[in-house]
Amino acid sequence: MRAYTPQNITEAVIEQMATTPDPRMKEIMAAAVRHLHDFAREVNLTPAEWIKGIEFMTKVGQMCSPARQEFILLSDTLGLSALVNIMHDKTKMEEATSASLLGPFFRENTPTFQPGAQIAKAPGDKEVVLYGRVTNAQGAPLANAMVTVWQTAADGRYDIQNGIEETDCRGIFRTDQNGNYLIRTVRPLGYFIPLDGPVGQMVMSQKRHGMRPAHIHFLIAAPGYRELVTALYLAGDEHLEDDVVFGASGDLVAEVKDNDPACPIKGLPSIHFDFALARESEADRRAGRVGADPAAVTAGNGKDSEPYGQPPPEMAAAAKEKKPGFLGGLFRGR
Ligand code: BEZ
Ligand code: FE
Repeated sequence: MRAYTPQNITEAVIEQMATTPDPRMKEIMAAAVRHLHDFAREVNLTPAEWIKGIEFMTKVGQMCSPARQEFILLSDTLGLSALVNIMHDKTKMEEATSASLLGPFFRENTPTFQPGAQIAKAPGDKEVVLYGRVTNAQGAPLANAMVTVWQTAADGRYDIQNGIEETDCRGIFRTDQNGNYLIRTVRPLGYFIPLDGPVGQMVMSQKRHGMRPAHIHFLIAAPGYRELVTALYLAGDEHLEDDVVFGASGDLVAEVKDNDPACPIKGLPSIHFDFALARESEADRRAGRVGADPAAVTAGNGKDSEPYGQPPPEMAAAAKEKKPGFLGGLFRGR
């Protein structure tokens, strides 16, 4: 009988899994084993350290509910969601608006609105107009395209963070005959990703600030075109360069203008952005999204109330005061 060594164990596992019928699954699992073993060898992983890792992943799983997907958050904070997104984006058939993260706050359950409607229940004095066109890659308008939008309320929290039944600051709109969309909303705030679970523990233990820059999510769909999952990031936000989930990119930065004469609703600040969709390929239909409504991934474990806590007060205080001790280690040599 052969004796396993730190070197030959990897091939032994891959050999045993070689009977996997699905060729793509076989390829993915073999690569996963190779990289996992390489990782363990590289850091000379000890039993105590691996148990700690297993405990961490167990807590991540236990935190998942129909209202919360801690594994997506883990993937986001490790840059894996951004990596998969960027790779997927490169497979578009045509040049079009680039993608950004779907994130854990997307909900299938979203109300529909008429053009120009306000999606925030309490807009107060923070109203902003979003307008522009949805076109194909050549600039021709796409009529009746579905424009789904979601964002934080003016207090920097998503509706789902206040309860699974809450619906606020999200809506589905349609473009008109000329491809125009028109939405009233509130100015979103930058926010802490959920820090009250194991992923938050990890982020805080790494002395990261834990914040995303202010943004508005869009999911845009039209028959025959690749679905666009993206977001607009507000110009001037202090975390555009060091988004904790690596989603912000320069081409998606949009300015809030105070007196844009082209804005269809007068007297309100506005963001103008035109979105271009690429034609859909056969592969696009099977590609899926990086992220999901938590309820679509995790169903029925009964943990569906009070899904999110507040960030620890010391994180909020550090962000406000920009404590040298806290932020000093943050900007990685910049
Ligand atoms: C978001 O933009 O909603 C988001 C994305 C990744 C992690 C947390 C939040
Ligand atoms: Fe978001």
